[in-house]
Amino acid sequence: NRHLISAADLTKDDALLILDTAEELARVSERSIKKLPTLRGRTVVNLFFEDSTRTRISFEAAAKRLSADVINFSAKGSSVSKGESLKDTALTLEAMGADAVVIRHGASGAPHRLANWVRGSVVNAGDGTHEHPTQALLDAFSMRRRLGGLEGRKVTIVGDVLHSRVARSNVLLLATLGAEVTLVAPPTLVPVSVGTWPCEVSYDLDSVLPKSDVVMMLRVQKERMNAAYFPSEREYSRRYGLDRDRFAKMPDDAIVMHPGPMNRGMEIAAEVADSPRSTIVEQVANGVTIRMAVLYLLLGGEI
Ligand code: CP
Repeated sequence: NRHLISAADLTKDDALLILDTAEELARVSERSIKKLPTLRGRTVVNLFFEDSTRTRISFEAAAKRLSADVINFSAKGSSVSKGESLKDTALTLEAMGADAVVIRHGASGAPHRLANWVRGSVVNAGDGTHEHPTQALLDAFSMRRRLGGLEGRKVTIVGDVLHSRVARSNVLLLATLGAEVTLVAPPTLVPVSVGTWPCEVSYDLDSVLPKSDVVMMLRVQKERMNAAYFPSEREYSRRYGLDRDRFAKMPDDAIVMHPGPMNRGMEIAAEVADSPRSTIVEQVANGVTIRMAVLYLLLGGEI
């Protein structure tokens, strides 16, 4: 593959190659080797049309740790505010010699369009409500490191599935890797297409928690909540929030995940987010390693 646009494009062998490459790179980092010469002379452009903390910074850190040159583009303050199109923006970056373009965009499908306009590799860093494949890869990597393997593991993904590119990418990737996924959400926050997704759906969090190896909480995306019916924050938290009492219903060795950013006190209680069984901080660190593996494999460097 020249691009990474959807988790659906990854075979099990592709996904395992990325996870195993990340494992190698983590071992190199653990030996206090901070920087590899692998992508010297290559240019990675981070093209962000939507806000981001974790993804933008971790792609930049990943590219720099592989010695690539990095150009950070943020739509705010650029000629996009003067009406410049995605295509013209892409062609401008292409003229600057981008070997890889990492794109986050509010429109589902934007990375797919971009791939037709640039010669370099396109990496989807989150497009609308569609996909966020490197998030799913870093989540799978984090689960594998904590639990040992993914085959037959029961993963429960809870919350605003309707607006979640993280949920879709995770469902697709985890199914490919042999895990069993259950989505739990209020009926109004489940996409109509969910019947075609390789997962189960439940509306009763309390009955699913005791059977879960992983509970992944999703952020309630207030900024995308336009037309969807949303219960009050209090009602949502009471029925779907992971508080101390619900946390106690999980098996003792089950882990809690959240892609961030979190609404503490709403979908997840602070004491649960900060517990030793939470992988939230690990997920951020693993994000750099996974993105190094993706850039390394797409740009064909040599370890
Ligand atoms: N998880 C995630 O994509 O976070 P950011 O929006 O901060 O990049």
